[in-house]
Amino acid sequence: MTTMRPGLRKLVLTAHITASTGWLGAVLVFLALAVIGVTSPDSATVRAVYRVMEPAAWYALVPLAVASLITGLVQSLGGAWGLVRHYWVLFKLLINVGALAVLLMYTATLGSLARLAAAADADMRVLRGPSAVIHSSLALVLLLLATVLAVYKPRGRTPYAPGPAAAPKQVKNI
Ligand code: HEM
Repeated sequence: MTTMRPGLRKLVLTAHITASTGWLGAVLVFLALAVIGVTSPDSATVRAVYRVMEPAAWYALVPLAVASLITGLVQSLGGAWGLVRHYWVLFKLLINVGALAVLLMYTATLGSLARLAAAADADMRVLRGPSAVIHSSLALVLLLLATVLAVYKPRGRTPYAPGPAAAPKQVKNI
């Protein structure tokens, strides 16, 4: 793939940062909802939390995760960083694909929790389980790690990296 012009690169970078940190923020809101689901003494509040979580995952988490992946791929392949030249880019790719895969599988659990929350005879002990807190906490840690990797860009280069000049040249274009 050819290198993007600076104007286009900045546009894609803006979209990438917006999607990626937006995803992180949305996960934080999910964690807050999950904690309310576990701790609230009010059954109606707990039910409401689980009825909101499933659609919110489809309308916010999944689109942001996919947008982060697509813009990250464009940014990597259309710039000097490359996709497999630097370990920090590879780790971010791994985090993104792994977190997105778990998220897509977890939407099935969120769907059954939403149906349970809507049922009149719902078992509140199941709804008050820690699963959503655990999943959102792990996602938050992974996304914070991806953000740190993105900002610090540790030096480690893979055997596929070309000569030492490629990455710093791209950084100066920002
Ligand atoms: C997992 C979620 C992700 C988060 C939270 C994230 C976050 C960020 C942030 C905050 C930046 C801006 C850093 C800066 O300008 O100093 C960035 C840049 C970048 N990201 Fe991501 N990212 C994620 C996923 C990905 C993926 C999956 C890829 C590649 C497949 C990727 C590739 C890149 C590249 C190459 C840059 C540098 C762009 C440049 O400076 O030209 N990111 N990322």
